[in-house]
Amino acid sequence: MSDLEGYRASFETEPGYLDWAAFGPLSPRVRDEMHGDAELLGTGRGSSIDLVRGHTDVARELLGELLDTDADEVTLQPSTTYGLMQALYGLRGALLVARGEFPSLAVTAARAAALREDLHVQWMEPEHGFVTPDAVRSALTDETTAVAVSLVDFRTGYLTDLGALRDVIDDRLLIVDAIQGFGVTDADYAAADVVCGNGYKWLRAGRGTGWARFGARALERLEPALSGFAGADVDLPLDETPGVASTAQRFRVTADDMLASGRLATALEEVRDAGVPAIADAVADRADELIGYADGHGIPVVTPHERERRAGIVVLRPDASDVSALSAALVNRGVTFTARAGSVRLAVHAGTDDDSMRLLVEALAAYATYRAR
Ligand SMILES: Cc1ncc(COP(=O)(O)O)c(C=O)c1O
Repeated sequence: MSDLEGYRASFETEPGYLDWAAFGPLSPRVRDEMHGDAELLGTGRGSSIDLVRGHTDVARELLGELLDTDADEVTLQPSTTYGLMQALYGLRGALLVARGEFPSLAVTAARAAALREDLHVQWMEPEHGFVTPDAVRSALTDETTAVAVSLVDFRTGYLTDLGALRDVIDDRLLIVDAIQGFGVTDADYAAADVVCGNGYKWLRAGRGTGWARFGARALERLEPALSGFAGADVDLPLDETPGVASTAQRFRVTADDMLASGRLATALEEVRDAGVPAIADAVADRADELIGYADGHGIPVVTPHERERRAGIVVLRPDASDVSALSAALVNRGVTFTARAGSVRLAVHAGTDDDSMRLLVEALAAYATYRAR
């Protein structure tokens, strides 16, 4: 069995689960790790506790590997939003961000600007909601000091080209919310200064498995405004207020959750062993199929058709009057998905099986029959 086949075989979700963009059912290895770690933490043995605590460094090392950077640049965070808050609350100048971004960026940007007199937001509203290099180029001003964007847009499935964005923005900060693409698409993370994510969707690691990477430029320009006592080089600063750490660890608040780190490290190992390019290919193949079926039934697809501009999210936008009928057809066939604001978001993974695709095909056919009446 190849590494990818082993990875695919580890998907035990019920047929019809096409909601990976909302939540990733935990992998069997993650569940085993979690149970094992819980037992170890129940023993009261120092060596057992240390063993579980060690998962934090393993997770950071693996993130460094997958992000093509040093583990020193990586911090664990409770979630994507916490990582983005560390970046945005530390920013000065003007932040360019699309209004349609997930609230982790949009709301955080607005709140940070409300608090900081030296920060304001430049809202952009790109065509189709796609934050393309051209859209960014035309929205940039001399004032812009940073651009924040999702790697994969949660509403449309559009996959941003980080390298092309870097070319456009020159040496301004590039802050990336990677939760909807990390591990399932092969991105040029080195082009970004800050990259944040969480393991509870595509990594199958459960909640609490957030992380953030801060590169050299981010360290230089971001004020560690939300740094906590764990953001110092001192182990436990008592009776003193230490300066912040010299590395990205300055963007930590308190001790990491070691049970979450164990889940994250296990999930990252699974991704590393299967290989991101192989996973990305398998995801893109399933997305191709899905788009083909939608096209075949004349259902408008919001997500770009080009393989290199999407990952696992495929969004359908039928006529407004047909959304309920399409949703009902999917529900009736046991397909799990997200319906929001007039669109139907489906999300396929490398382990999405033929039975799931069959249920989808049946649902789309049933919807097409209803529409033809
Ligand atoms: C693009 C995007 N960013 C952030 C989040 C939330 O991330 P977290 O729960 O890790 O803070 C989501 C959740 O759906 C999302 O789709």
